[in-house]
Amino acid sequence: MYTVIDPDIAEYLSHWMRHRDPLLDEMESYARENDFPIIGPLAGAYLYQLACMSNAKRVFELGSGYGYSAYYFLKAVGPTGMVHCTELSEKNIDLARDFLTRADLWDRVTFHQEDALSALERIGGSWDVIFNDIHKHQYPASIELAYHHLRPGGLFISDNVLWSGRVLDGKDDGSPDTAAIKEFTRPKGSSRLFFQYGTVLPSPCGARPRGSFVRSTGETLSFYSQIAFGNDILAAYVWLHSSS
Ligand SMILES: C[S@@+](CC[C@H](N)C(=O)[O-])C[C@H]1O[C@@H](n2cnc3c(N)ncnc32)[C@H](O)[C@@H]1O
Repeated sequence: MYTVIDPDIAEYLSHWMRHRDPLLDEMESYARENDFPIIGPLAGAYLYQLACMSNAKRVFELGSGYGYSAYYFLKAVGPTGMVHCTELSEKNIDLARDFLTRADLWDRVTFHQEDALSALERIGGSWDVIFNDIHKHQYPASIELAYHHLRPGGLFISDNVLWSGRVLDGKDDGSPDTAAIKEFTRPKGSSRLFFQYGTVLPSPCGARPRGSFVRSTGETLSFYSQIAFGNDILAAYVWLHSSS
């Protein structure tokens, strides 16, 4: 397994997080016992921070599982905020209902049992954060859609962009998922301008501007890229719009 952060360091950091909701332990146990790929506690805390720092009140999740990543967003948006979740599996939604009801968070979440990209297109609107954790072959299709449904300055956060190292030459398994992740992070062509200068950094803290470009509309977009902790890598692209 390829890791950006030494597992001992990840474990060391995790120890700082012991005084937290015991329900998260339950949700993490479920993931371990059922081999379910949740973002995990360190990336979860990072999502929470990103949402708090950007004062997010409206979060749209693409691929929600049983509500683990949503838990952090729900805490961050507070009682006046909302999180829309998308999930194909009824079983996962039932689990989410149980966990998030017990966390007293169910009243601020809306689950849609449908394809995440179709749901975002259908519901529309402008979101403060769009979190992307769907089937990897769908990642390229999420770029334009997410852009059009983010408020200026909103965050488009995508998990797994290093794909446990399979993006590296010599580690590529030749699968459609790996090809899609590579296209997502290293796209060619003007329709993929978001990431033209994007560099994914194994940088666990602090946002650094990585580049900017001018769209055909005249807007200047700057973006930042970051990586969160853990084996399962998460990159956050923060898009800031201005008129000049
Ligand atoms: C990697 S899991 C992560 C769940 C969640 N983000 C977390 O970390 O707790 C991805 C989930 O997204 C769902 N999923 C994948 N592609 C989807 C799609 N196109 N539309 C809706 N759900 C999808 C899967 O069923 C799975 O439960």
